[in-house]
Amino acid sequence: MNQANLIILVLFYSRHGATRKLAELIAQGVESVPGCDARLRTVPAVSTVTEATEPDVPADGAPYVELDDLTECAGLAVGSPTRFGNMAAAMKYFWDGTAAQWLSGALAGKPACVFTSTGSLHGGQESTLLSMMIPLFHHGLMVLGLPYTNPELMTTSSGGTPYGASHWSGLDGKKTITEDEKRLAIALGRRLAETAVKLRAVA
Ligand SMILES: Cc1cc2nc3c(=O)[nH]c(=O)nc-3n(C[C@H](O)[C@H](O)[C@H](O)COP(=O)(O)O)c2cc1C
Repeated sequence: MNQANLIILVLFYSRHGATRKLAELIAQGVESVPGCDARLRTVPAVSTVTEATEPDVPADGAPYVELDDLTECAGLAVGSPTRFGNMAAAMKYFWDGTAAQWLSGALAGKPACVFTSTGSLHGGQESTLLSMMIPLFHHGLMVLGLPYTNPELMTTSSGGTPYGASHWSGLDGKKTITEDEKRLAIALGRRLAETAVKLRAVA
């Protein structure tokens, strides 16, 4: 009997597009694994104006994530721009609305990974990646990094860390993704999807 493809959720927030580019590369890595489909989803911005609203569907780009996406996925990649060495409030706000999924264990046992983009090279990529792992551990996800068998981890002079994929966008946000950043982001997406496939095999 043919099995349905596994859905790997690539969930990101991106104000200016740098983190979105990483999300697309991770999705590319996911889709290089037979039997896996990437589902790109984003979260709305948060506002300083209480109860300000956005349309239900973004004007362009990935749709907003729905809580059912968490239940339906077999693996999860989470990405945010670095904001003062931490994830952006919009991503944190999303996780703060997932108590029901935490209680039901909707994500427990699924593989996960993280990615980020910074304006400066030493401006907190690792701290942001580690901070994004914390809600994932609480949800029972099994968090993956990148092993040093990826040679780019030794040579990169831009982004790319063992804690997850990253990009140095520069102070004007205009730096393009380097070859090392690209390869590491694709490798992370592939590793996530391959792990989801292996976990299905033993379930
Ligand atoms: C409020 C705020 C805080 C930021 N904090 C940091 C920081 O701590 N370190 C850093 O390197 N860049 C920081 N940045 C820059 C963004 O992380 C960077 O421009 C990122 O690539 C934007 O991603 P995006 O294009 O996906 O929105 C900050 C930007 C803003 C608006």
